[in-house]
Amino acid sequence: MKKLHDHYFKKAKDEGYAARSVYKLKEANEKYGFIRAGYAVLDLGASPGSWTQYVVEQVGMNGKVVAVDINPLKNKTGVIFLQKSVFDVTQEDIKQGIGGFDVILSDMAPRTTGAKDVDHLRSIALCERALELSIALLKNNGVFFCKIFQGRDMDAFVRTCREAFREVRLFKPKSSRSESVEIFVFARGVTTLRSVS
Ligand SMILES: C[S@@+](CC[C@H](N)C(=O)[O-])C[C@H]1O[C@@H](n2cnc3c(N)ncnc32)[C@H](O)[C@@H]1O
Repeated sequence: MKKLHDHYFKKAKDEGYAARSVYKLKEANEKYGFIRAGYAVLDLGASPGSWTQYVVEQVGMNGKVVAVDINPLKNKTGVIFLQKSVFDVTQEDIKQGIGGFDVILSDMAPRTTGAKDVDHLRSIALCERALELSIALLKNNGVFFCKIFQGRDMDAFVRTCREAFREVRLFKPKSSRSESVEIFVFARGVTTLRSVS
């Protein structure tokens, strides 16, 4: 398994990506095809920036990418970057004149403590904030793709997603360490009533 991760680390370096996490998003996009040319995408927890780099490539010249993180981005080309906590950034900060987002990503992770329960609850808090922003800012058929650390409150979070979206799936990328507690929620089509169309 370590070999596999050395492989992704080296691949990211060779291909010029800021982190190997890019291959998780790539795998998901190859499966679901949800990030396309011309799309408006919000990337929460974007630093050091491999997902953002990939998204900028996929959406192209006619797309728009907004990224948020407390830490800096390595490469800000083609991105509107807000260096703020997701708990402080407002919907107005994020909107940037964009009518609604086609995709909202969250790869946010708390600084891990080693205490699984604490890490899980902090991950849930980040996911809930990402979900709140997604319900408010996604277009009607938009996609919310969110990393979550598995644990006792995960089912409740997935249930809340099922109440807010038409389609919800769980996705574990091959490039994610098998011993890692992370898993991704893929949700499409906001059903909750809002002002975005
Ligand atoms: C696994 S990294 C993201 C990697 C990124 N997707 C990439 O491909 O380079 C998780 C990120 O979540 C960010 N994060 C954690 N808490 C946050 C918060 N409250 N607001 C914004 N970002 C946060 C961390 O700063 C960290 O950069």
